[in-house]
Parts: sequence; C-alpha cells; structure tokens
Amino acid sequence: MWKFRDVISILDFNREDLEHLFSMTDRILERLFDVGSLLDGKIVATAFIEPSTRTRLSFETAAKRLGAEVINLEPHISSMAKGESLTDTLRMLDDYADLIVIRSPYEGSAKHAADVCEHPVINGGDGTQHHPTQAMIDLYTVRRLKGRIDGLEFGVVGDLKYGRAAASFLYGLTRFNVKRIWLISPEPLSPRPELMDRLKSLGVDIMKTENLEEAVEGVDILYVTRIQKERFPDPAEYEKVRGSYVITRKIISRAREGLKVLHPLPRVDELSHDVDDTPYQAYFIQAKFGVPVRMALISLILGAF
Ligand code: CP
Repeated sequence: MWKFRDVISILDFNREDLEHLFSMTDRILERLFDVGSLLDGKIVATAFIEPSTRTRLSFETAAKRLGAEVINLEPHISSMAKGESLTDTLRMLDDYADLIVIRSPYEGSAKHAADVCEHPVINGGDGTQHHPTQAMIDLYTVRRLKGRIDGLEFGVVGDLKYGRAAASFLYGLTRFNVKRIWLISPEPLSPRPELMDRLKSLGVDIMKTENLEEAVEGVDILYVTRIQKERFPDPAEYEKVRGSYVITRKIISRAREGLKVLHPLPRVDELSHDVDDTPYQAYFIQAKFGVPVRMALISLILGAF
C-alpha cells in the first residue's frame, strides 16, 4: 500500500491510504511498539532549495527518532553554488540515500526528482499547489482533535491562489465527506480554476466569500494561511492584498464552541498572537504532530512496518 511509494501530491492517496497512515501515527504516539531502531542502517537525504523550519527539521527529527541517519544538502555550500544542475545533484543523493525529501519553489520539482531517482521521493513542498505531507499532518490534526473529518464544516482563509498548504489541504478534504467548505479570500487570491473544478466535480458543498465574519460563525475548523509574498509575480499586487485578513481573539469569539484554528505556519501578521492562549489555538499542536506523522510516513515507505 505504501512501500517504496513516492509522495508527490496528496491526490495520489485515497482515503484508505490516509487512514492507514493516521492509525500508524496513533500507534507511534501511543508508543505501542519500540520505534527507536526501526530504520537502523537507513539514510534519509533532505534537499531543500527553498527555506523551511518545520518541514526540514521535523523530517530530520522523525528520521533520527527511527534510528536513521540524515544527510542535508545545503544548496549554498553544495556544488549547486558552482552551477551544478538540480538533476545531477539529485542523482548523487539517490546514490547516497534510501529516501529523498525535496523542497523547491518550482512547480513539478518533486515529480522530476521522482523520475530521476530510483529511491522514493517525498515532496516537502514545491511550487504553489502541492505540499502533501503538510496536508497529511493537517488532516491528522483535525481527526485527532475533533475525532473525525466527515461531517465537519471548514473555513480556509487567506492566499488560496499561491498557498500550496491551503491547496493541498483542500485537495485532502476531498477524500472525506465534509459538510461544507468556506473559501475566504480577496478576489485576486481566489483558488485557481483547476482546484475549483476538482472541488466542484467531487460534489463538495463550497461557499466562496470575501467576508470572514460571515464564515466564522458556522465552521468547526478555521484554516488560516499566510499571503505568500514570495510567489507574487508583481510586488505591487502583493501590496494590494497584504493584511486583507487578521484573525484575532475578538473575531473568533463569535465562532461556534469547539472551533479549532489551524495554520501551517510560518505566520506573519494574519494570525494575532492573542489567539495563542485560547482554546481555539491548534496550530502549535498541528506543528508538533509533524514529527509522528512523518515518522509513520517514512516507516511505511521504507517498509519498516
Ligand atoms: N508548514 C511549513 O511547510 O513550514 P516550513 O516552511 O517552515 O517548513
């Protein structure tokens, strides 16, 4: 089911795959078996040519907690700085490691890496559409905190055009029977047509609005995203939408009881620090689940259980 698979898009995985991943994550969290030497002798390579805190470090932590060794490509001190291509660099990592995790600003990099490498490749985020392991963590967080994903009402707010975490989360929700999804963004940051078409084709109940307050009242999960400044082709366009939404304790105080606020992080100014010590805050829990979900993922792919 999972062994030796590449992880390029959340859409490559069906509900059964995801539920298996989640139940293995539960078992890791509940310490149902000793995992410290599951990946003894294995080497995991990370190739991050775009900045990251959570994804790179949680993959590294996950691998080390399973007993694997980790090698990190550091682009600025690798031979990429001398002009070596990404393709040749990936060939080297494939010779050295059992599994490669890649992050890149370029659409399609992870698929290209999977084509070049014989060993499994995991997409740690590429371009504007795919960050599959973030979506796995997000879905796991919802399931863990709310006990289910089916039947819930979701609001996804912010940059729905360039934000790959938001797009992947929305793609991931299509694997479940959710009640409704609110898409909340300024018009220029509306989801791309291919994402809208997929949501509609699966019969998901979609509400599109620019009005955050209208949406907040009915949702069980509010998924907040940063406006992706670095992906705007024109900086003037970014300035027009910058600061469109700021989620504050006051705004969410009118939400339904039990609301959980998720954010893939990093945040800039779209999510106020005054939410941090409320019962709504779930984004630090979400970030923490990055390690056990990625432990389960790596173990499954490398056939350790
Ligand atoms: N959520 C996420 O991908 O964070 P990083 O960019 O820090 O890895």
